[in-house]
Order: sequence, then C-alpha cells, then structure tokens
Amino acid sequence: MCGIVGYIGDGNVYDILIKGLHRLEYRGYDSAGVAMVGDDGQLNVYKTMGKVSNLETFCSQKNLGARLGIAHTRWATHGEPSDTNAHPQTSQDGNIAIVHNGTIENYKVLKDALIQHGCKFASETDTEVLVQLIEYIRVTNKCSLLTAVREALKQVVGAYAIAVIEKSNPDTIIAARQSSPLAIGIGDNEMFLASDATPFVEYTKECVYLKDGEVAVIRRGEPLKITDLDNKDARIDVKTLELSISELEKGGYPHFMLKEIFQQPETLRDCIRGRVVEGGRKININGVNDNKEVFLNAKRIVIVACGTSWHAGLLGKYLIQDMCKIPVEVEYASEFRYSNPVLDERDVVIAISQSGETADTLAAVKIARDMGAFVFGISNAVGSSIPRETFSGCYIHVGPEIGVASTKAFTGQVMVLTLLALAIAQLKGTLTDAEIENLGKKILEIPSAVEKVLKLADKVEHLSLIYTYARNFLYLGRGYSYPVALEGALKLKEISYIHAEGYPAAEMKHGPIALIDAEMPSVIIAPKDHLYEKIVSNVQQVKARGGNILAIVTEGDQQICRLADHVLEVPDMPECLTPIITSIPLQLLSYYIAINKGKNVDMPRNLAKSVTVE
Ligand code: AGP
Ligand code: GLU
Repeated sequence: MCGIVGYIGDGNVYDILIKGLHRLEYRGYDSAGVAMVGDDGQLNVYKTMGKVSNLETFCSQKNLGARLGIAHTRWATHGEPSDTNAHPQTSQDGNIAIVHNGTIENYKVLKDALIQHGCKFASETDTEVLVQLIEYIRVTNKCSLLTAVREALKQVVGAYAIAVIEKSNPDTIIAARQSSPLAIGIGDNEMFLASDATPFVEYTKECVYLKDGEVAVIRRGEPLKITDLDNKDARIDVKTLELSISELEKGGYPHFMLKEIFQQPETLRDCIRGRVVEGGRKININGVNDNKEVFLNAKRIVIVACGTSWHAGLLGKYLIQDMCKIPVEVEYASEFRYSNPVLDERDVVIAISQSGETADTLAAVKIARDMGAFVFGISNAVGSSIPRETFSGCYIHVGPEIGVASTKAFTGQVMVLTLLALAIAQLKGTLTDAEIENLGKKILEIPSAVEKVLKLADKVEHLSLIYTYARNFLYLGRGYSYPVALEGALKLKEISYIHAEGYPAAEMKHGPIALIDAEMPSVIIAPKDHLYEKIVSNVQQVKARGGNILAIVTEGDQQICRLADHVLEVPDMPECLTPIITSIPLQLLSYYIAINKGKNVDMPRNLAKSVTVE
C-alpha cells in the first residue's frame, strides 16, 4: 500500500508533492512526509503521524523552497504508525532519503547484517533497512547512488516501488519497481513520479509505467533513462493518459463515496456502451470474440479476486453457470495462491480487481499463467498491472473510484460479468437468440432503473436514523441476492465499523438465528425471483424471533411488505439482473449510517483503497 510522489522541475516542489499526496491518500493515510533537497543545500525531511493535512500544518513554519523532492502517505506494514516510522526514511548519515511502497521480506536478515557492521536504526520499518543498505554500499564501494541502489535491490526479496534522493545531488531522483506500481510523468522540463498517474495528470499526459526489475534515472534537463538491475537499457514505452482532472474531484458532493454512488447510471451506461448492440440482439465483448476457441473449449472457469471484487466474482459464478453451463469456482486470491491450485490449458482464470494492483490477485494471475491457464482480467484502472499481466480482458470503464468503499466499481464488475456470461452463452449457443435479446434489452434499461433506485436516497437517509443504533446486523439473501447480502454487510462494516454478517438466508437457521433479537436487525434482500416464496419463510422466521426487518423488495410486493418493519421497493428486473439494482440501496444505507455516526466514509480507519501488500 502507500502512495509515493516525486517531482523535479521548476514548479513549486512542495505544493506539487502535497497535492499529489492528497490524490494518493486513498492508498493509505496513517502518516505522511516529504524529503526535499532545499535551496539551502540541505536534505530537509518533514514527516508526521496522521493524514496529509496534518503534514501541511506541521510544515507551515518550515523551509519549503526546494529543487526536487519525494513524498509519501503511509499504510503501515512494518512498525506502527508513528512519526519515526513515517516515510521518508533516511540513512544514518542523513544524506540519503527514500520513500517506499511494498514490503522487504528479508529485512530481518539484512538488518542483522547491517547492525553487525555498526549500523544504528531509528525506526521499525523494513524501508529503513533498504536505505541503510544503500548507504552502506555507497560508502563501502565508493560508488554512485545509482550503483548503490541497483546493488542493494539485488539483495532484496519482496515488493517495492521506491524513490531515492541524496543531499549532494539536487538534480536526480532514482526510482525502481518490483511488484508495486510506479508511473513516471514526462512534462516540459519537469518530471514526476507517483504510484498512479493522478498526481500529475494536470501537468502532463505523457506517462511511462515502470516494469518489474526496472530502475529509472530522472535527471534535471536530461531525457528519462530506464535500465534493468544490471544496467542494461530498457525500452521506454510512453503512454498517453486519458484521465481528466474533473474525474478526480468531488463535483459538489460531500464525499467521493456519495458522488460515486450517484454516478452509477452514467458509469453503467459507459460500461455497456458498444457491448450491447443491435438493440439488444448481440453482445459484443472483444476479449471473447478474439478468443472464441478458448471459451468454446473451456472445461472450467476459476474466478480469483479479493473483497468486493470477490463478491462480484461470486455473482459471476451464478451468471456463468446459469447461462453458459460451464462449472465455475470462485476463490479468494490470497487463498488460491497458496493452495497448490490444479490448473491446465483448458481452464480459464478470471481475475477481477478494480485497482488492477491488488498484490494477492496479481500473484494469482501469475501462478495461473505459469500453469498454462488462459487468464482474463476484469479491471477498472487502465494500464494497471493486472491488465498488463493477463492475456485478454475487459475494462469496466467506470472512471476513477476514489472512495475506499467500492460502489460504482462493484456494479461495473457485475455488469461486465453479466455481459461476459451472455457473450459466452451466445458463442456456445447455451441461450436462445430470444433469451439473449430479452436480457440485452433489459440491460439497456438498467441505467434508467438505477436512476429510479437512487430516488430512494431520501427514504434511505430517513431509515438510516432508525437503524444507526444497532451494534450488529445480519444481511440475508438467496441465489443472486446472497452475494449482494455479503457486499451490503461489507459496506456497512468498512465505513461505519458496525459488525455485520452476510449470510445465505436459508443457512441462518443453522446458527445465526440464535443471534436474532430486538437489538439485531436483519436486512433481507428479497426481489421477485424463483426463490421468492422460500425467502418469505425466512422473513417469517426472523419475525417470529422478534427481529427487526428492513427488506429490499420488487415494486408492488405484497407478502414481504406485510411482514417487514421497513421496505425499499426497487424496479422489477429479470432475476440475473437484480444484483445491480438491489445493491444500490445497501450502498446508500451504509453511507448514511456512517455519516450519522460521524465517520470518515472516504477514508475509513485501517483500510486503504489499493492493497499492494500481502
Ligand atoms: C471494497 O469496498 C474494499 N475496500 C475492498 O474489499 C476491495 O474490494 C479489495 O481490496 C479488492 O480491491 P481491488 O478490486 O482493487 O482488487
Ligand atoms: N513496508 C513499508 C512500511 O511499513 C511500506 C508499507 C506499504 O507500502 O504498504 O512502512
């Protein structure tokens, strides 16, 4: 995790770094810091606990004039969040500063060896070990900083995106990457580096994504130079950014999360555009069209993902099994990677990740690829690692998601999985033309149905006041509504810190039913589908134990409306399309409950948007 930024050029170094850190705060926010080679020739390092705004207060009286600088917003992995453990970390002689995203797995061995050589450590971080090692090599071998960085990295096992500067060299930043992302922005007489392109999108559209094992030398007045760890020149592949600055701002909403919830009609339109054609008769997914044989011959599909993306994956299983008659397994990427998976070339592995950078999902992709499976990626962040590491894939096209709690990316992922299932079914002939056309037409109606669901916001806000008291929640659903229940519970946990459990409604009687009393409300997702009558019984079971019920039902529902304490009615949709519709009131519910509790919904405690560590 963590966000790193670097800048060299004639602009205001400190301002550019701070603004960049704010954009990257979604990646971590337990401490922040900057290191700049000042116009006084000193290496000035300012860092403090807490968010970037704390750092700004801390720096208000400091010397901020500088020629170049690096900065960091942290999500601690080694050592608690503290001023000392905050980055930048510096070498013992105070001459070298580093910012780091990732984890140095062999830091203990390296640290012990450095201590033997007389090195003294100030922090508990793995990052300090790396900067001390660089200094040690630099001094012992009397070599340049660049050589010392390369040699140090050869000794490191783990993941890193780093930027390094030194006091005696006000014209150079050295950057390197292994498994953690790093983008370099090339401007007019200025260069930027950052964990993603958002900190520099308003200054330049030219961007180079560093690859694993590469080292970049960013030197004032010189073109960018990239080599490998053995100093062999690497190809520089300049990409043009398509991101715009307005996409990164709140646009009048109090929080990114609310903006992103309300953007969903538009993001779903973008996601569907060009993919449902001929008035709904044809589904057009390039990744399927280009790999017909793969999907026709697939004996099994394995979906790997984490968190919300895993919930979307679970819906993918229902969708693909229903429509394509291919067996599907859904695995947490973190478990999959260590489970000795058995795969071969007739398996298709689908990796789902909003950020495209989740370390566990990326590792699962690499394992699947090495075992000969065909790997298909579903991502949001264009140019991120997962789309680059997969054979084929599909973007969800919902624009940057800044709120840590995923909302529009979830509905985008579910939409892409629905389209993917339909495209495979069309190819295999497992659905008739009429069935495809019927669903295709309904998919085109989804953005307007979502607009209608969003009109429930005031009612949800009002209901949230009634439910904010609860310390525990049960979310129940069956069939397609079960993953929706899991996702609804996760949303509530993440941002309001209320304990919530998602459960298959029929499993409730095998345990969780014991928890139900007047203090524990149940949110029951019960649209009109083939399991409707079954879930009515589950509602009755909760009612009989004195539990409060908030139900999400289809417009015009009679039975559950009579049983539940409160209902939210959503437009009627074919069963396989209900998850997009029913998940939206749950996003709103968690948002308003968290607001009532005074929580920071965009930056919930202990979390970070992109989990690039194990
Ligand atoms: C979603 O609200 C979460 N913050 C989290 O579970 C997230 O979905 C997970 O970390 C996976 O991220 P990814 O989609 O970027 O891989
Ligand atoms: N391992 C470093 C630390 O704990 C960086 C953490 C990260 O990138 O998440 O400070």
